[in-house]
Amino acid sequence: MATERTLSIIKPDAVAKNVIGEIESRFEKGGLAIVAAKMLHLSREQAEGFYAEHKERPFFNDLVGFMTSGPVVVQVLEGENAIAANRELMGATNPKEAAPGTIRADFAETIDANAVHGSDSPESAAREIAYFFEENEICPRG
Ligand code: PPS
Repeated sequence: MATERTLSIIKPDAVAKNVIGEIESRFEKGGLAIVAAKMLHLSREQAEGFYAEHKERPFFNDLVGFMTSGPVVVQVLEGENAIAANRELMGATNPKEAAPGTIRADFAETIDANAVHGSDSPESAAREIAYFFEENEICPRG
């Protein structure tokens, strides 16, 4: 199995609920290490750039509005198969379809305010990590 990195965002709804620590604990207990992290209040421009691939989707404006509605934690998670492992810990995009015990099942209510984001492929992980972090801001383990 390969050690990978993935970009994770704790979204404004979860920050507002004061469950940053509980969510970080899920990642750590799930075998992922937090190797970079910062709290940001995204500008409209930053959010639009990050979600550029969804520009044509009907929910794009709502998504950007939500992601700029309050602070977020952007972070890099590292571990064995980190991209898939993170998505498993997060659960389905729609919290109503998320498996019991996943982050979205436990901390999210709606498809727009769904607590966390995680990269969905090695290509998007590379792009998304570089969007927020310089290589020298990442502190690998081991
Ligand atoms: S996925 O998992 O990325 O394939 O999910 P997808 O359905 O493509 O959704 C992409 C992101 O858009 C958000 N989303 C929405 N936001 C607002 N309103 C509606 N209706 C909506 N539907 C989907 C969803 O939370 C995904 O955000 P990220 O940050 O990528 O997880």
